[in-house]
Amino acid sequence: MSSTLDSPTPLKHTIESSQGLSVLKLSDAAVASKRVAREIGALIRQRASENRNCVLGLATGSTPIRVYRELVRMHREEGLSFHNVITFNLDEYFPIQPNAAQSYVRFMNEQLFDHIDIVRTNIHIPNGTIELEAVPGYCRDYDELIATTGGIDLQLLGIGRTGHIGFNEPGATRDTRTRLVKLDTLTRVDAVKDFGGMDQVPLLAITMGVDSILQSSRIRLLAFGEHKADIVQRSIEGPITSTIPASYLKTHRDVQYLLDDAAAECLSPSTLGETPQ
Ligand code: GLP
Repeated sequence: MSSTLDSPTPLKHTIESSQGLSVLKLSDAAVASKRVAREIGALIRQRASENRNCVLGLATGSTPIRVYRELVRMHREEGLSFHNVITFNLDEYFPIQPNAAQSYVRFMNEQLFDHIDIVRTNIHIPNGTIELEAVPGYCRDYDELIATTGGIDLQLLGIGRTGHIGFNEPGATRDTRTRLVKLDTLTRVDAVKDFGGMDQVPLLAITMGVDSILQSSRIRLLAFGEHKADIVQRSIEGPITSTIPASYLKTHRDVQYLLDDAAAECLSPSTLGETPQ
């Protein structure tokens, strides 16, 4: 099993360009979330008009909730249909039952899938109930399935205080694929509010890898609140390093950070270009 877990030690520092990176400071989380939801809606409609599928990479946590709320509103009030949408979620605790209160299956159903017209078989979320021995094969199949659908058109991301994207914790290198990982202690501490006690928080999770994420055509990362300001600054202005997996996003050709004032407060003025509202 240990071979499927990240080693916590290797540190990689490389200097690469960040030409595909844009950083937007919006007036608040609602404005940022609506902006991303509108972009997703436009992409779904464009693909539908071409008779094509739209493949979305989806995230959990408190951060994307407003995006999902806005997508549900667009479905109800503006007739946005999800019939051509295929989704892949980033991660899931392991092990966990899908009906558990903290399961990401339950989260996604409650926040989005139960309220839109998506075809159920088009939804993919890492399975927290499979046998441990089956996990490596399952993870390979997950990456392969993403590839056979044509790859992710738009990947929605949050960021953990460790600098994780999905559950790619410090130590996750640029080439990682979907796999079983050990959760960082800080991530588990942050999850205590959902699980009720540290001993209830799983030690492991299945997550898409850094490379799996970087294969997406567009990446949109949302971060809100002052508790994200320090890690946002280090991800954007610091070196590209496995110590902060989010820093690998700087190597992507089309990645956008959408921040509120508080999450952007540690960034230097030169990082923040124009701030459309
Ligand atoms: C979890 C998820 C991440 C998410 C992070 C941040 O760890 N696996 O994908 O980005 O939480 O959570 P929040 O948005 O609640 O700050």
